Amino acid sequence: MMKILVINGPNINMLGIREKNIYGTETYEDLLNYCKEEADKLGLEVSFFQSNHEGALVDAIQEAYGKIDGIVINPAAYTHTSVAILDAMKAVSVPAVEVHISDVSSREDFRQISYVRQACIKTIAGHGFAGYKEAMEVLKEYITKGIL
Ligand code: DQA
Repeated sequence: MMKILVINGPNINMLGIREKNIYGTETYEDLLNYCKEEADKLGLEVSFFQSNHEGALVDAIQEAYGKIDGIVINPAAYTHTSVAILDAMKAVSVPAVEVHISDVSSREDFRQISYVRQACIKTIAGHGFAGYKEAMEVLKEYITKGIL
């Protein structure tokens, strides 16, 4: 079975509490349940990692090397700052899709830069939780066929 790792960065564990007008009322646990259900439907084996710490995210990406077939990554605020996360993604070169719950393109200027994007085959933003499902679909297709 294809193994997908869903990585979430800082404050994603605060879903349902943080800025509900932007991120909605569903919790991080709801997100995990949703991803698990969708992964089951797609016939994918899914695991999860969330951290508020940049280095811990780098460690999780490195650990995926040789073990994981595809990564869904929402680096949250580190999207806009972290060369270390980009370098880790490039180092392992596991096919990856960047996801954002909100539509970052219509938000502040400082959210317009994404470092991790360079290491991802696709970016999905503004589709809420559904973006994670779409990312898993894209990865399944890409890993199976070798094309987008
Ligand atoms: C986010 C968007 C980021 O700009 C922000 O820092 C987040 C969440 C999103 O999922 O919409 O924490 O990645």
